[in-house]
Amino acid sequence: MAMVCLSDFEAYAKKYLPKIAWDFFAAGADDCSTRDENILAYKRIHFRPRMLRDVSMMDIRTKLLGSEISFPVGIAPTGFHQLAWPDGEKSTARAARAMSTCYIASTYSTCTLEEIAAAAPGGLRWFQLYIHRNRAVSQQLVQRAEALSFQGLVLTADLPYTGKRRDDVRNGFRLPPHMKLKNLEGAFEVCKMSLLDPSVTWNDIYWLRSLTHLPIIIKGILTKEDAELAVRHGVQGIIVSNHGGRQLDGGPATIDALVEVVEAVQGRVEVYLDGGIRKGSDVLKALALGAKCVFIGRPALWGLAYKGEEGLQEVLRILQDEFHLSMALAGCASISEIGRHLVQFSKL
Ligand code: FNR
Repeated sequence: MAMVCLSDFEAYAKKYLPKIAWDFFAAGADDCSTRDENILAYKRIHFRPRMLRDVSMMDIRTKLLGSEISFPVGIAPTGFHQLAWPDGEKSTARAARAMSTCYIASTYSTCTLEEIAAAAPGGLRWFQLYIHRNRAVSQQLVQRAEALSFQGLVLTADLPYTGKRRDDVRNGFRLPPHMKLKNLEGAFEVCKMSLLDPSVTWNDIYWLRSLTHLPIIIKGILTKEDAELAVRHGVQGIIVSNHGGRQLDGGPATIDALVEVVEAVQGRVEVYLDGGIRKGSDVLKALALGAKCVFIGRPALWGLAYKGEEGLQEVLRILQDEFHLSMALAGCASISEIGRHLVQFSKL
């Protein structure tokens, strides 16, 4: 089977993953309108491409909080990678390093942070945190990540409770007994998501700040009000995200929310985006509207399901090639040439 675009990996994963795993990866909340809108919204945005601009030499590298990556696509935090491939997050870490990009490892990884770090020494990695009721557990995780040279702490802000994902309820989704949430092992009965702390507020950013020197990136921001609060509370980055449409159904597509966040932030911190990125031209649209970088969630899982580390590298390589081509066809030879002028803004 020739793998030409990310949908090919999606079709493969759907065909070969056990139904319960496929359903868990694919799930959106309620009737999945926000999940689907994340993708549809890109189709409503059109380019204003420029011609005759010498695109013979292209530079698609960029920086995330000062660290260079080979192109502006990283791997969003997703849980349970062993459901896709036996080596789980170790394969993800290796693929991200091979492609010189950033991997955000989830609290709900099925490999330990130590295993992830050892699998790809020197790779650029951030750690994603869910704050649990037992603050000592969260504190210990943050400090472990810092000691293991993770370079950023991503606080996920949009999950005080887990969204209602109907297929997971129907399937009675649980991790198979041989897989564990290894970073939380022994801390408490890990399968109960209710152990997440729903009382978290902006003030907890100060608590996190007191625990670590790592830059803090807040994930799950969709409004200018929260973007302003994030900047005022001293975060270094914002990920515009709706959790892949898995939390509040009926919220905006992330590409539609991006503009108001970018306008509120006014360059004071870096703004990233995830949700619905399936083509290189989606990446270009997000950058044109002000994202410094985007992250992929489900497509990374499809790549793992296809061929582990190699499959994920293939997904990233396809996106990289498509992004490179889209940039060239739009008349941009380097990332600094991408801007609002590239999209028909009035039609947004
Ligand atoms: C997620 N996401 C997520 N986010 C997070 O902060 N911590 C996590 O553990 C998870 N786990 C998770 C599992 C699965 C199966 C999915 C699909 C998503 C959300 C993820 O980081 C990201 O926001 C979305 O996946 C982006 O949307 P796309 O790229 O999947 O459309």
